[in-house]
Amino acid sequence: MVSEKTIEERLKELRTAIALYDFHYYVQDAPIIPDAEYDALFRSLQQLEQQYPQLITPDSPTQRVGAPPLKAFAQLPHQTPMLSLANAFSEDEVTAFDRRIREALGVDQVEYAVEPKFDGLAVSLVYENGILAKGATRGDGYTGEDITLNLRTIPSIPLRLQTLPATGLFEVRGEVIMLKTDFEHLNEQQRKHDEKPFVNPRNAAAGSLRQLDSCITASRRLTFFAYGIGTYHAGQPVFSAHSEILAYLASQQFLVSQQSRTATGAGGLLAYYREISTLRPSLPYEIDGVVYKVNDLGQQETLGYISRAPRFAIAHKFPAQEASTELLAIEIQVGRTGALTPVARLAPVFVGGVTVTSATLHNEDEVQRKQIMIGDTVIVRRAGDVIPEVVAAIPERRSAHARPFIMPGHCPVCGSKAVRLPDEAVTRCTGGLYCPAQRKQAVLHFASRRAMDIDGLGEKLADQLIDRGLVHTPADLYRLNVGTLAGLERMAEKSAHNLVTAIEHSKHTTLPRFIYALGIRHVGEATAKALAGQTGDLDHLMNMDAGQLQQIPDVGPVVAQSIADFFSEAHNREVIGQLLNSGLQWQKPDHPRQLLPANPAVSGKTFVLTGTLPAMTRDQAKSRIEQQGGKVTGSVSSATSYVIAGSDPGSKYTKAVELGIPVLDENQLLLLLQINSADKSEDS
Ligand code: IVH
Repeated sequence: MVSEKTIEERLKELRTAIALYDFHYYVQDAPIIPDAEYDALFRSLQQLEQQYPQLITPDSPTQRVGAPPLKAFAQLPHQTPMLSLANAFSEDEVTAFDRRIREALGVDQVEYAVEPKFDGLAVSLVYENGILAKGATRGDGYTGEDITLNLRTIPSIPLRLQTLPATGLFEVRGEVIMLKTDFEHLNEQQRKHDEKPFVNPRNAAAGSLRQLDSCITASRRLTFFAYGIGTYHAGQPVFSAHSEILAYLASQQFLVSQQSRTATGAGGLLAYYREISTLRPSLPYEIDGVVYKVNDLGQQETLGYISRAPRFAIAHKFPAQEASTELLAIEIQVGRTGALTPVARLAPVFVGGVTVTSATLHNEDEVQRKQIMIGDTVIVRRAGDVIPEVVAAIPERRSAHARPFIMPGHCPVCGSKAVRLPDEAVTRCTGGLYCPAQRKQAVLHFASRRAMDIDGLGEKLADQLIDRGLVHTPADLYRLNVGTLAGLERMAEKSAHNLVTAIEHSKHTTLPRFIYALGIRHVGEATAKALAGQTGDLDHLMNMDAGQLQQIPDVGPVVAQSIADFFSEAHNREVIGQLLNSGLQWQKPDHPRQLLPANPAVSGKTFVLTGTLPAMTRDQAKSRIEQQGGKVTGSVSSATSYVIAGSDPGSKYTKAVELGIPVLDENQLLLLLQINSADKSEDS
């Protein structure tokens, strides 16, 4: 008979381990154990708790999975009101904001904490004695809805604070969002089950969070970003700046935006705005602006509040990414692989900061699904540098003259038959390289910046080269000379010279670029890199069969078949031969690919030890970390991966909290040391 004490210890062990793996998976975005192992641990915990229900604690990871549905949400008053922010839409408004602040404070220069403005839902999380007790929506700012059960299901919300003496109340505030990838995934599921897709990640997050049945919330992938605190009681660290609060939250294993930092003066704010605008399309979540907050908490207090917004903060919003306009016509564009893409010709509209006159409609099914007709008023979306797209029609504004779109049965460029395979959404021209449009796109892709990077070879020029029969395949580019080129329209001798030089330069390339440039279907840059990295050699790659190709990470059956098909085509081999004969070259890697480190959770990471560890001496801990390829240093800096804190931790702990370095205890260190294989599954 096992005593309850031992069971309790085992439960604690399992909970600590699962919380640590969740943190790595959901917050650090770097899983450290295989899914199967994680699932097994989780099941052990569930079984044990089933046997001993009296030992279930509210911070157990099993308590995230959803509870019986509610009839209605209870009201939950906020102890500290949740305010809103004033908005700025122009540089002038930002400069004026900074001026107001400087004048009110009587200083020459102000330091701001700057961060992305998440496009999701504001929530408040209240920790009582270090354990997540209540969670609420913003509501009217004074009273919100009690959505504790739903919030508990979000894996990036810690169920307990990490290393605090943790007495009293501690309220964390932030935004629940849905990552762009999770949004795509959810909509795919919605379509598969014939349910209405969500319009954008914000709506999807809102719809998922405000469910009376928390099991539905649990089935959706939501993410919580912390951006501040509300009420907090004694026993907590004392903060003097907003940046310290964010660092503290990061040290407590909350997800805090990697783009949060400080900036000085209006110049610093505007530089940050521009930087984040550029970064926006590549961020994993949607943002609708940036937020500037006076960093010093003393200064914040001096500035105070006007009506319902703080005077010390402002949101600088991005221009709207959606606008409505008239769909004048639908034209067909022929792509590199023969795909016929319906393209909307639009009445000019200002959206996402530029004037847009055309937008993609993706394919025939999308036009049907969105029920778009020619002549409709449509909503156009342009997000960052992404190609503008037609999101929806506004049927209420449909005119009597609107007419449906019909996909043509023939390629509009070469007249070949256009076919749509049973499992595909795309209709393709069957003309292959007979079709000038496909040839042209193949050459343009070959020359593009991320492929062979031939500067000066744009659409107009490609049109002429193909139409005049000077270029049939990319290999023909290396036969062009100044004489031939100078005869073309809009091609002075100087530009002809420049182009020939650019073509010549492109001969020194890299294997990944070359593979990408070939334009093999389904082979983007990342796959090209994986292929080059794994084979190290073009000849080798060209002779692999689909089965062998599938052994390469990132390469599934469809991609493998497409690569094998491409290289088995005699014509393609001929073009590659010609390219190599014209002097194309790249450096062969001089050492084979390194194997993955045995323990990714430790190897290459920097640890700092502080305080007295319960079971190991510091020297023991140090040597075990080093054995696994980790480094142990004596002081905490931004390069530190983890601080391991024992009892009576010293200034190193404080420093970790200041810098937002994750703090782990000895148990968690032991868990990291036990990990011996990386989770490489990518199909989730
Ligand atoms: S601070 C006093 N920081 O924007 C207000 N808010 O109008 C404190 N939001 O509903 C808010 N990202 O949900 C702050 N980094 C960020 C934010 C952010 C998004 C939302 C917030 C609020 C709205 C303010």
